[in-house]
Amino acid sequence: MSLAETWDRFAKERTPRRAVNARGQSTWLNWTQYPDHGPDEGVLGTPLAGLKVLELGSGNGDNLAHLATLGATCTGVDVAPSREAAARERWGHLPGLDFRTTEAVDYLATEAATFDVVLSIFGAVWFVDPDMLLPLVRARMNEGGTLAFSHLPAGSQELKPGKAGMRHDRTPEEWTKLLHRHGFTGVRTEIIEPPTGQSAATMLIRATV
Ligand SMILES: C[S@@+](CC[C@H](N)C(=O)[O-])C[C@H]1O[C@@H](n2cnc3c(N)ncnc32)[C@H](O)[C@@H]1O
Repeated sequence: MSLAETWDRFAKERTPRRAVNARGQSTWLNWTQYPDHGPDEGVLGTPLAGLKVLELGSGNGDNLAHLATLGATCTGVDVAPSREAAARERWGHLPGLDFRTTEAVDYLATEAATFDVVLSIFGAVWFVDPDMLLPLVRARMNEGGTLAFSHLPAGSQELKPGKAGMRHDRTPEEWTKLLHRHGFTGVRTEIIEPPTGQSAATMLIRATV
């Protein structure tokens, strides 16, 4: 089965995001797998209006749609064709938002566009060898830009999303070394504890260039 087919199959099991969150908002950014939990786009530390944002593994586009409503110009890439279709159906009416069906390495290696913010929320940064991906991300980032990504902490027993072998689990210390090696600075790592009654924490990593 190809990578696209594998992720299309995964997409079929996903429940679409709710129409509104607990605050009554129709768009929001969620770094964790739990609804109404964890920090929002504020951790990016910069007003988003006017910035160019790329999300690697953008899924149904829900997080990126929120940044588009804040005035960012957003591109989401995802290897699964059904994800682009779903994202366009739900968010295609928003200006400044584009979705592409492409593998993250292929996109970064072939597109000339550069970005102020690169995001990956349980996305491609977790599923591609970081020694291959990070130099390509770095080359597509504008000076002063931010890379931010989240995924399960290394060693988490939860197998989803993705089979265990597909994930590139790294500890915060390993991510810090990797990011420094590939030209990123200001690395910050944090563990977001799960909500009461849930077991899986989330690791959030931020770095600047
Ligand atoms: C667990 S889902 C998360 C989706 C979305 N970021 C979210 O938070 O709902 C992982 C996504 O990354 C995509 N993906 C995985 N590996 C990828 C790669 N190498 N290039 C592009 N997309 C990839 C999958 O198709 C899937 O949509």
